[in-house]
Amino acid sequence: MRICAALLALFFSTSLSAAYNPDVLRKAADLDAERLKQADQEVSNWLAHGRTYDEQRFSPLDQINSGNISGLGLAWAFDTNHSRGLEASPIVIDGVMYSTGNWSVVYANDAKTGELIWQFDPQVDKAWAVHACCDVVNRGVAVWKGKVYVGTLDGYLVAVDAGTGEEIWRTLTIDQSRPYTITGAPRVVKGKVVIGNGGAEYGVRGYVSAYDAESGDMVWRFWTVPGNPDSKPEDDAMAMALETWDRSFPWWENGGGGTVWDSMAYDPELDQLYIGVGNAGPWNRHLRNPAGLDNLFVSSIVSLNPDTGEYIWHYQGTPNDGFDYTATQHMILAEINWQGEQRSVIMQAPKNGFFFILDRATGEFLSAEPYSRVNWALGYDENGRPIENPDVDYKDGKQFIRPSPVGAHNWHPMSYNPQTGFVYIPTIEGANEIDPDYNYEHEPGFWNLGTQPMPQPPGEMLFQQAMLRSVLGGGLLAWNPETQQPAWEVKHALTWNGGVLSTAGNLVFQGTADQKFRAFSADTGEELWNFDTQTGVMAPAVTYTVDGEQYIAVQAGWGGGLGLAAGLKPPPGPPRSRILAFKLGGTGTLPAVPERVIYDPPPRLDVSDEVIAHGNVKYRQYCVGCHGMSVVSGGSIPDLRHMHSTRHEGFKAIVLGGALSGVGMVGFSEVLTEEDADAIYAYILDEANKDKEERENPGPQWWRDFKTWVYLKVGGLIDSAM
Ligand code: HEC
Repeated sequence: MRICAALLALFFSTSLSAAYNPDVLRKAADLDAERLKQADQEVSNWLAHGRTYDEQRFSPLDQINSGNISGLGLAWAFDTNHSRGLEASPIVIDGVMYSTGNWSVVYANDAKTGELIWQFDPQVDKAWAVHACCDVVNRGVAVWKGKVYVGTLDGYLVAVDAGTGEEIWRTLTIDQSRPYTITGAPRVVKGKVVIGNGGAEYGVRGYVSAYDAESGDMVWRFWTVPGNPDSKPEDDAMAMALETWDRSFPWWENGGGGTVWDSMAYDPELDQLYIGVGNAGPWNRHLRNPAGLDNLFVSSIVSLNPDTGEYIWHYQGTPNDGFDYTATQHMILAEINWQGEQRSVIMQAPKNGFFFILDRATGEFLSAEPYSRVNWALGYDENGRPIENPDVDYKDGKQFIRPSPVGAHNWHPMSYNPQTGFVYIPTIEGANEIDPDYNYEHEPGFWNLGTQPMPQPPGEMLFQQAMLRSVLGGGLLAWNPETQQPAWEVKHALTWNGGVLSTAGNLVFQGTADQKFRAFSADTGEELWNFDTQTGVMAPAVTYTVDGEQYIAVQAGWGGGLGLAAGLKPPPGPPRSRILAFKLGGTGTLPAVPERVIYDPPPRLDVSDEVIAHGNVKYRQYCVGCHGMSVVSGGSIPDLRHMHSTRHEGFKAIVLGGALSGVGMVGFSEVLTEEDADAIYAYILDEANKDKEERENPGPQWWRDFKTWVYLKVGGLIDSAM
């Protein structure tokens, strides 16, 4: 009874306090076409995903600047009570912050204190997580006329009352018989909410759709790859695309890919909506597309009419994608001096390692220069077609391809600073083997790549980690689009670092995988400040003011695709996924990190090396994406080397029977036999015992220091030598 009263009191104090009068909140969130178009003028607010429709992620605020940054401290921290990856860009309006966290939950916080005003849980079906390649993340909401919009992991678009957090309408945007997921943020253009989805590896056909912001009714849908060639193409764009697919492979049964899972930008003057289109599925182009056609519109930027969804132009950076080279990476609209002329351009640094500049009115190709090391292409011809490198064609056997399928840049947003003229890119240095598998059978709902599972580096853990590090570096690159040259570059200790914010205070903010939130000088790249976030940071920061004081806010929560899968160093303790806000003179601190609980495994099973090797292959096929390479957890999903004895006993009930599907760990009985599960278990026990031996016998301090050095440095050296 007492608990009840306390809960009620808490409820009333957070939800219905006079300070958070729903009418006032709703009125503040009354964004319309004009306010969004003029978002740049509202310097105190962050009204749209990339702050402005042009997605520059640059703020004119300069109260916090390179001169006083040392005084920046924690103003508040909000714990989401989850531990998975956070990737959202909050929207901030008149002192209220709207953001999202794990399982598509929406939060409205007081942007000055962090106090929770309301929270909306769309009750995502947790078993749907098996269709999510890259964690149960969400990149944020859109706001329009008093409503807050979120796309949910299981495919709904939901409108929520900005005043109370109550659901107003929900529309199912996908066919749930297909493994689509939504992690991207919706955008609102002239009263229509635009949302795409992901799932290219799992067998879906990509599209983006627009819904009426008031009613939730669908207004238009643009497909990005053709459907069954026996049916009439939906529109002229699909008729054009159909000619670029090879009918000898039934891509339409596999889906084809081309998902629009993240980036969009809008130009209100030209009235064009730009979408970034993802990779083709299955990855193996020789299997999918023996004729070597272009496969429109995979790996393209497409311009659409936002009222009708009609095609205007497209540019395909990676025709006939065979490398998972999505063009869903962040796109920025800017006016730049291009060879002596002012041009209205769209810029993108997609996975394929080239920095693209196009005229955004027409799609005319202006430039593609490598911003990273690449080996798949030698460059681009004047028509904007890549000149592919015949030496790395993997048709007849595996090849080391650079960049890796993770990309030279992934979804983590860049920023364009009109004062320095630089684009700041969170880069990934990486190469990976692509090994074709022509014994392809489509497995509905699971990974379908037409390539062998990702290789596990050979040898002992130390060597493996050095190898992993060697094929996966990370940094922050300031790229000058006018000269098509790097201006400066900072190399980070680890890979999979955060998105970027730049400000008129001559600052660039970026969180890093090694659990820091950092500020750099925008013109020189000198690191000026950092804060220990206790967990890796992937999300981009935003900035705003409340009562005349400037804040910098960022979500800190480790995970996402590589954060789960790469088996890099996990955080020291169980991660907490939080929103952190900083201001000058802030004195807040985070609570101490509790110890990570590690249980010792039972002894190894008495099985042959073949069984362990088989378990390893199956593990890499079905488990690695969430539980990590070499069974080293990224931190936010249980480390299977350290399970409690009850988990050992219940292993098959979990892995085949789905005993934990209510918390996001589905059963795999559709694709794994009992023998497979036993083999995976034997492999996990082998890795767990290696880890136990290492923990029991860590060796002298100099040996441990040496290993850290190998991990951080030797990998980088191997990488530069390759
Ligand atoms: C889509 C992500 C995902 C995939 C793929 C996945 N798991 Fe899990 N797994 C989870 C999550 C999330 C949990 C933790 C659930 C919870 O909160 O208890 C988990 C928990 C477990 C546990 C219990 C561990 C513990 O300490 O509580 C076992 C065992 C397990 N997984 C085995 C596997 C195996 C084997 C595979 C491959 C066949 C696999 N998982 C694939 C997400 C995944």
